[in-house]
Amino acid sequence: MKSLRELYGRGRALLRGLPGTDPALESRLLLQAASGIGPAAFWSSPEAGVPGAVERRFLALIARRRARFPLAYILGEREFWSLSFAVTPAVLVPRPETELLVEKALAFAPRGKAALIVEIGTGSGAVAVALARELPDARIVATDISRRALAVARANAARHGARVEFAATDLLRGLTDRFGPAGADLVVSNPPYVAEGEWPSLPPEVRREPKRALVAGPTGLEFTRRLISGAAGLLRPGGRLLFETGRGRARASLRLFDAAWDEKQAFKDLRGIDRVVAARKRAG
Ligand SMILES: C[S@@+](CC[C@H](N)C(=O)[O-])C[C@H]1O[C@@H](n2cnc3c(N)ncnc32)[C@H](O)[C@@H]1O
Repeated sequence: MKSLRELYGRGRALLRGLPGTDPALESRLLLQAASGIGPAAFWSSPEAGVPGAVERRFLALIARRRARFPLAYILGEREFWSLSFAVTPAVLVPRPETELLVEKALAFAPRGKAALIVEIGTGSGAVAVALARELPDARIVATDISRRALAVARANAARHGARVEFAATDLLRGLTDRFGPAGADLVVSNPPYVAEGEWPSLPPEVRREPKRALVAGPTGLEFTRRLISGAAGLLRPGGRLLFETGRGRARASLRLFDAAWDEKQAFKDLRGIDRVVAARKRAG
């Protein structure tokens, strides 16, 4: 029987050289997943023997990772906003930079009243659930065109006791009737913003994520354009639209706002990339 330490070393060696991988971290996480042990037992009993069935399971997980399956899909989990989210290949793996969208939404959310916040394209539900946890009095509605994604998002909301209403719809279709004339305070989105031509050059892990979650069309701005015009009809005067954008796309995104908007701005992420764009629907 091999020990945890031996298998951990074998996993590290097998993952060495895989682009964008931390072999030590990934070997440990995959070994923990295969054996069902937690980090404390892993570090305190490295000489513990590992049954053959666990070794085979571990090597199968390593093989999937070497075949460039995203680690989050193999583990079925990803942390976002310090919460653990279930992820499946039906949803985009939540990215750390998207936490800036949550941060800015919290900064713009009205206080002292039950805010109405709409998230478009919720995927795993990470953004909507994080907002619901931070703003327990807000009404949060999250949409996606993918029913399979919405099933994952619903499970994540239940897991975290977050009160979120979900709707299967194309962008904002049907939402205006649902809210009545008062309008939403905030519309937030991490929309697909990759251009069709960029898809083939993305890392294999990214191409295992739903293409519809990433690719917007020939320029990458198609979804954003529809989002801006739809949000103009959904927001109350003075309400804000906030959305994530990709490297080098913020300026083009800002140009999509017409005279119905003011206070247009972009916010940088920790790497100095303009990552979140925000604008206010003119107050009158
Ligand atoms: C970039 S992912 C964002 C997922 C999640 N909000 C996050 O930040 O991790 C974009 C999401 O938009 C959804 N989507 C794509 N086209 C849509 C449409 N026409 N209407 C509504 N949602 C759409 C995709 O299914 C996907 O879940």
